[in-house]
Amino acid sequence: PYKLVILLSGSGSNLQAFIDACESKALPNTEVSAVISNKTDAFGLIRAQQAGIATACINHKEFASREDFDCALKNKIDEFGADLVILAGFMRILTPGFVRHYLGRLINIHPSLLPKYPGLHTHQRALDAGDTEAGATVHFVTEELDGGPPIIQAKIPIFDGDDAATLAERVLSKEHTIYPLAAKWFAEGRLSLQNSKAVLDDKNLPESGV
Ligand code: GAR
Repeated sequence: PYKLVILLSGSGSNLQAFIDACESKALPNTEVSAVISNKTDAFGLIRAQQAGIATACINHKEFASREDFDCALKNKIDEFGADLVILAGFMRILTPGFVRHYLGRLINIHPSLLPKYPGLHTHQRALDAGDTEAGATVHFVTEELDGGPPIIQAKIPIFDGDDAATLAERVLSKEHTIYPLAAKWFAEGRLSLQNSKAVLDDKNLPESGV
């Protein structure tokens, strides 16, 4: 099967979406081969164990530098063997060397309509700006933080009375649909990074992805 290694730091609801998609055949011939967390108490590790998936925890605080942490992370990922490395709520910035090693087979989901709001507190920033829509973007990871080519985006309307928590909840439920779909395109050999562009079925994707 096509092997996914998922990196996370927290709840792992996106991991759960991948587990469910693999089980339901929405992601055919694909398995989550391992889950790696930088946080010992990440609930995502428990979700993985409950699904019988191998786990590892690499605590970034035990490393002297980002380079050392990323080197340990890379060794662990390569030990498990990954066709595609998936960042799912992984809250560490990766070094250029790490990103280059996995270029084209490393993807992230970010809770905003990129290129709007890279970084943190995306939903509050959308509210503060008076935006009428919010969303999430799956993108290739490049050396620019949250700046790699978009693959697929999901949009939701912002309603009067929304706060960062209500927005996060509605966006998250969309994330659970678009993220496994992007992985499916990979597994089918339809999606790749070519000349710094996301390419689906031999067509360059636009700046907002699909
Ligand atoms: C998701 O909303 C994801 O987009 C976001 O963290 C959440 C993880 O939720 N990622 C980032 O902010 C990356 N900078 P989950 O642990 O329930 O999947």
